[in-house]
Amino acid sequence: MEGAIQDSGVNSLIKKLLQMCHQEQAPEVNLYKEFVGVTFDVMRYLVFGQAFGTAEQNDMTVVNWLGDYFIYVPMIRALPILKGRLANLVPPVRWGEMAKNSMSQLAMDAISRRRALLATANCDGDLDMVPNDILQLMIEATDPNSGEKLSDIDLASKSLIQLIAGSDSTGCALTWVMYGLLTHPECYRRLESEVLGAFQPIPSHNISPDPDVDLISHDDVKNRLPYLEAVIQEALRFYPPAATAVPRTVPPEGLTTGFYFIPGGYMLEAPIYTINHSPPAFERADEFTPERWLETADMNTLKQSTFTFLSGP
Ligand code: HEM
Repeated sequence: MEGAIQDSGVNSLIKKLLQMCHQEQAPEVNLYKEFVGVTFDVMRYLVFGQAFGTAEQNDMTVVNWLGDYFIYVPMIRALPILKGRLANLVPPVRWGEMAKNSMSQLAMDAISRRRALLATANCDGDLDMVPNDILQLMIEATDPNSGEKLSDIDLASKSLIQLIAGSDSTGCALTWVMYGLLTHPECYRRLESEVLGAFQPIPSHNISPDPDVDLISHDDVKNRLPYLEAVIQEALRFYPPAATAVPRTVPPEGLTTGFYFIPGGYMLEAPIYTINHSPPAFERADEFTPERWLETADMNTLKQSTFTFLSGP
């Protein structure tokens, strides 16, 4: 997927940032919006095979939808009564519902277009024109027991979950990596010298305003930038993108954890941020220290103690 990720989002953001470098007066840039724009474009391409170009078009509509949606979700969880008719009285709830409806419509439109494309492809006997993306995998999937396929409503809700879960989390992770670096200049300088030691710097007078970007690939970096890896791991620990608690219901027979018995039916929430900052698991837990990932003798335990993805590293 690397080529698709670069083509559908990363290249255009790099071009945009390079162009900003060439402006007489450096503009302010909201990296969160830029990163989420790119990750949404990438996810939209991977899920629906559909290119968009948020960075090129400077169109922040979907980024704003995501922002509204993530304010709406915790409000509705805390006060479900606000849903439906009362939504009109509370602007953030109204905006959240509008954002959710717009994203659902985007998914439904993509599914209708895919059904039409499949009909044409079947008619012409040319299945090569059908993209090999997540939507197509879900359309073709069958339940091994019943042989049933997903309905269009199910397809829309599952693809929407992928789109939302994949773009906001990754965009926030990138933003926090940059925040960690910019608020810890010693880490920034160490990373800068690692990158410049491994790759030729581009002389600034050679950067044209609209260059063909020649991106460094994952193969190029995977063994050459250990400090970059450490910075990313530490940012994911220190600033987990999904920071709040994720609820789970205790099964009817109850659950014993440590010395405690919790009866069935209770709801438990494991707070991700708190666990990632827990002193028994991490030395100097409240310090942003990428070095811990290079110095540890036991990487596996360190990764297992980090709760960022909940189910495991
Ligand atoms: C830094 C990046 C990411 C972080 C920190 C992250 C974190 C999480 C967490 C904590 C959960 C909740 C898990 C649970 O309830 O058991 C979750 C769920 C999920 N994630 Fe991610 N994730 C990331 C990237 C992605 C990407 C790139 C995708 C898709 C390609 C994705 C798709 C999903 C899906 C589909 C769910 C289930 C949502 C649901 O059932 O409601 N995530 N993620």
